[in-house]
Amino acid sequence: MSTSQRKIEHLLLCVEKDVEAHKNYTGLRASGFDDIDLVHNCLPEINKKNLFLESEFLGKNLNAPILIASMTGGHPDTKAVNATLAGAAEELGIGIGVGSQRAAIEDPNMEDSFRIVRDKAPNAFIYGNVGAAQLNEFGIEGLERAVEMIGADAMAIHLNFLQEAIQPEGNVDATGCLEAIKKVCDELSVPVIVKETGAGIAHSQARAICDAGASAIDVGGLGGTSWAGVETYRAQKRGDILSEHVGKLFWNWGIPTAVSIVESTISIPVIATGGVRSGMDVAKSIALGSSLCGVALPLVGPALKGQKDVVDRLNLMIEELRVAMFLCGCRTIEELGNTALVINGRTREYLEQRGFETGKFANRTLKYNK
Ligand SMILES: Cc1cc2nc3c(=O)[nH]c(=O)nc-3n(C[C@H](O)[C@H](O)[C@H](O)COP(=O)(O)O)c2cc1C
Repeated sequence: MSTSQRKIEHLLLCVEKDVEAHKNYTGLRASGFDDIDLVHNCLPEINKKNLFLESEFLGKNLNAPILIASMTGGHPDTKAVNATLAGAAEELGIGIGVGSQRAAIEDPNMEDSFRIVRDKAPNAFIYGNVGAAQLNEFGIEGLERAVEMIGADAMAIHLNFLQEAIQPEGNVDATGCLEAIKKVCDELSVPVIVKETGAGIAHSQARAICDAGASAIDVGGLGGTSWAGVETYRAQKRGDILSEHVGKLFWNWGIPTAVSIVESTISIPVIATGGVRSGMDVAKSIALGSSLCGVALPLVGPALKGQKDVVDRLNLMIEELRVAMFLCGCRTIEELGNTALVINGRTREYLEQRGFETGKFANRTLKYNK
């Protein structure tokens, strides 16, 4: 199957089937967000009508700390979807990523489905997308074409070895990836974001990504869209019993998003993606250490309807974020980054076994006792 056909198949599966990670054995969402409590402030001493959600990311201002995560392009039918998502990003003053540009680097006829994003969002923060496994094949010249295609402000390099391992056509040679990422960070004309796609990033790889020269990390953690899940459905359709079995087994593989945020917060901005489903999840992500959040799956259905539906879904999230900020007494996103939170249950156990001090988040309140 061609790259282009696979792109449209993925998009349709995401609306037709339940492709999310399952709840874990505690009955809570696999992302770990349900284990996080933001500590309520009964005397916020701020006006909810006077909150500042603006944040700066890689040199560009966003009206809210939210990105429409990398999703589509690369098939003629995806052009309208990208146009709708881009129109929403422009209207709200937030950022947007395009899906993998591989199909357009391989076949210039597919470029239109990506170019439309810059046409519809002339002022938005837009980031390109290419797989780590394709870096050597495309070279810096191919990546610069991808940058030019959408007037990209940054380029995301995606890591999706879970999906590649399940796809029969997957690229499973991961040798030399870090070196290739380093070369792109050194030579590409725009900042590089290294992103996972649903299996999360652990501390030592986050450190290696920082050392390689990336400008931001998108944790793409477990808890949202499961690419093992998507591949399970594809395998079922073609009667591929082996891939179906492996896809089901690895459906919930990965580092939960809430954990991965803590693991990856080192020295460069972190984007929290993977199961972010409300403004409260956005607030929790930022309190855990991320700079902003990415949202993909919740926007697929609205994007097939129209720009208003996408804007309405995102505005709901922004309002939820406002309420959370107000109730934590945080006027700015920066203050939200320092608000007190408590980590419970499996997420706490996970982080403690990994050597992280979970109490430091709750102890943020202690400053008021001094
Ligand atoms: C339909 C769809 C297509 C996607 N395509 C890409 C892609 O081409 N490149 C990429 O890096 N991530 C891709 N992703 C992954 C998202 O950017 C994101 O990391 C992941 O879906 C987790 O977010 P979510 O739980 O909000 O969906 C895609 C997600 C969806 C739902």
